[in-house]
Amino acid sequence: MLLSTRVLSFALLGVQIAHGAIIYQHSDNLPDNTDYDFIVAGGGTAGLVVASRLAENPQWKILVIEAGPSDSDVFEIAVPGLVGSIPKAVNWNYTTVPQNHLGGRSLGYSRAMVLGGCSSHNGMIYTRGSRDDWNQWADITGDDGLRWSNMLPIMEKMEQFGRDVTFLDVSGHIDPSFHGSNGALSVTASYTNVSMNNYLLQATEELSDEFPFKLDMNDGQPIGIGWTQYTITSNGERSNAASAFLPRTGDNIHVLVNTRVTRVLPVGHGSDFRKVEFTVDANGPKKQLRAKKEVILAGGVISSPQILMNSGIGERAALEMIGIKTLVDNPSVGKNFSDQVATSMRFSTTLPTTNYDAIRALAQWNESHTGPMAQAAALNHLAWIRLPDNKLAGSSDPASGQSSPHIEFQFGKISPSITSQNETVLSVSVINLHTTSRGSISLSDSNPFTDPNIDLNLLAEEVDVSILREGVRSAQRLFSSTAFKAHINGMIAPAVNFTSDEDLNAYIRSSAGSYLHGVASLSMSPKNAHWGVVDPDFYVKGTSGLRVVDASVIPSVPSGHTQIPVYGFAERASVLIAETYRST
Ligand SMILES: Cc1cc2nc3c(=O)[nH]c(=O)nc-3n(C[C@H](O)[C@H](O)[C@H](O)COP(=O)(O)OP(=O)(O)OC[C@H]3O[C@@H](n4cnc5c(N)ncnc54)[C@H](O)[C@@H]3O)c2cc1C
Ligand SMILES: *[C@@H]1O[C@H](CO)[C@@H](O)[C@H](O)[C@H]1NC(C)=O
Ligand SMILES: *[C@@H]1O[C@H](CO)[C@@H](O)[C@H](O)[C@H]1NC(C)=O
Ligand SMILES: *[C@@H]1O[C@H](CO)[C@@H](O)[C@H](O)[C@H]1NC(C)=O
Ligand SMILES: *[C@@H]1O[C@H](CO)[C@@H](O)[C@H](O)[C@H]1NC(C)=O
Ligand SMILES: *[C@@H]1O[C@H](CO)[C@@H](O)[C@H](O)[C@H]1NC(C)=O
Ligand SMILES: *[C@@H]1O[C@H](CO)[C@@H](O)[C@H](O)[C@H]1NC(C)=O
Repeated sequence: MLLSTRVLSFALLGVQIAHGAIIYQHSDNLPDNTDYDFIVAGGGTAGLVVASRLAENPQWKILVIEAGPSDSDVFEIAVPGLVGSIPKAVNWNYTTVPQNHLGGRSLGYSRAMVLGGCSSHNGMIYTRGSRDDWNQWADITGDDGLRWSNMLPIMEKMEQFGRDVTFLDVSGHIDPSFHGSNGALSVTASYTNVSMNNYLLQATEELSDEFPFKLDMNDGQPIGIGWTQYTITSNGERSNAASAFLPRTGDNIHVLVNTRVTRVLPVGHGSDFRKVEFTVDANGPKKQLRAKKEVILAGGVISSPQILMNSGIGERAALEMIGIKTLVDNPSVGKNFSDQVATSMRFSTTLPTTNYDAIRALAQWNESHTGPMAQAAALNHLAWIRLPDNKLAGSSDPASGQSSPHIEFQFGKISPSITSQNETVLSVSVINLHTTSRGSISLSDSNPFTDPNIDLNLLAEEVDVSILREGVRSAQRLFSSTAFKAHINGMIAPAVNFTSDEDLNAYIRSSAGSYLHGVASLSMSPKNAHWGVVDPDFYVKGTSGLRVVDASVIPSVPSGHTQIPVYGFAERASVLIAETYRST
């Protein structure tokens, strides 16, 4: 029998095996009389790490409840080059409230609704954040376990660094002493043979003060221009939370898909929230299950606060207004929602386009898992810039310390120009990593199927705009270097005559969007603090039997993309949960 087949379906039983785990399509299919020790609500990036780490104890039975289907049912997810084509059918399709400081625009807020969560549809960029980010989180929460020196070994142990599909020698592209080779999560450094490679590396010599060459942006000091690393396997496939972590588990994990958790409920009249309520659709019957040990909420930065508020855990006045009985009064629930903010620039160039024939590339990927579809992006570098103190608009440093950049450039693609045959257009995203504006997640009614109000409150603080402005000017300096002079004709967006602060501000407010790296809507804070939602042991304040483990507990945005900090927090939580029950 072909047991290694990726998906084995037992359609009649409503049961499927994916990534070696048992996937139940409906709660009616769950085996009777299973007493679950842990119920994980949300089978996403963090949830699957916690579930699979707990399952390392063969005595423990774990149920994961995921709103979306199995990721193995969606072909596009595995193919890195199809990252932009993952169907909307597995998205929550959120829209923010109109953003006051972006000219009233509402923004899409993409979140995956599928096993693996956002790790199943994200851009696969692998960044750990800076040394100071982790040290600051340790300082804020009082958990020394979160210090860089403690987390680096955990992040390395989680990692399986491998060769890129092009089998390029990665020396000079990464520092192997910062990488692990036996972990669950696959990581490769990207390589495509494009002339941008050479020009960027030349610029790191010419402008070494502002853009030094960075051998490895995951060494804790991500400042400079370096080769991007991705959560892609050596076999040219996306490595997500499901494909990385589930195969390492036994049959003591049951994954229930297509099922939405609506609330967590107390057992009896106290604050011991070890029960979950769930249903398949808004009008269907609701069921409840009780965990023997704990419920772990892992619905992500939007859903986890939504579920808590629906359960009566939140700000009393706000809950009362929509008829939800307050069980735990905590005004911090849903507040301090933080995200990075990005603006986009376009340059007219004579560089060759990075477009390729997608049908042929997909045929090649289908055949051998090689070629452009085995890559997440055509260009290979990221730039991380730390501003000097005098460029911070007189504000105190919003970054976590000297090892933390303020700005990132992500080099998009080089497309044919629509106005001139001889030109191409290079797109570059400029990102303010450490914003100071804070948003919120709130409810407008008590129906768990109503989308929450998502207010990013982007660019509410003036310093957030001025840092983006410095970023735009920094990108202009990079592309005015001798290295690029012969290949970059000029700037298209913002228009070249946008030089004053006022004009750039207007451009930024009209073009800026979220970088989709939201955190902190259920921030961790010290035990007994007067703010925050979870304690450093991830328990929801004022409750027992209920923890939250996902991006929402991370107190501030990292100096990078968020998936690895999320994985890191999930590993930390797994250790703490296992310690609680060591002898049982
Ligand atoms: C488009 C995009 C691109 C990104 N690119 C990158 C990148 O390149 N690199 C990087 O590091 N980060 C990237 N990120 C960010 C990163 O992927 C996320 O920060 C991270 O995956 C969040 O993990 P999480 O566990 O908090 O939440 P999620 O991974 O979103 O997991 C939450 C899970 O819970 C499920 N769920 C929610 N509500 C319920 C409910 N009521 N009942 C049952 N299940 C529920 C969801 O369906 C989901 O599966 C990107 C994000 C997006 C959206
Ligand atoms: C998102 O939109 C797609 C169609 O565009 C739809 O199929 C899907 O069900 C929507 N997701 C949710 C959670 O409603
Ligand atoms: C990149 O392509 C050029 C020609 O297009 C070739 O000369 C060079 O050897 C290639 N480099 C690598 C590392 O494959
Ligand atoms: C938001 O976070 C800050 C710490 O960064 C804290 O002082 C403040 O009280 C928090 N606000 C809420 C409403 O929780
Ligand atoms: C690649 O494989 C997928 C899934 O089997 C299929 O849907 C698609 O048509 C194939 N594409 C090409 C170009 O072979
Ligand atoms: C564009 O290319 C054509 C043909 O190669 C050439 O004649 C023309 O001068 C070029 N135009 C510009 C603006 O470079
Ligand atoms: C920039 O130039 C365009 C067209 O040349 C003009 O319409 C616009 O008003 C100018 N903007 C500024 C800010 O100077």
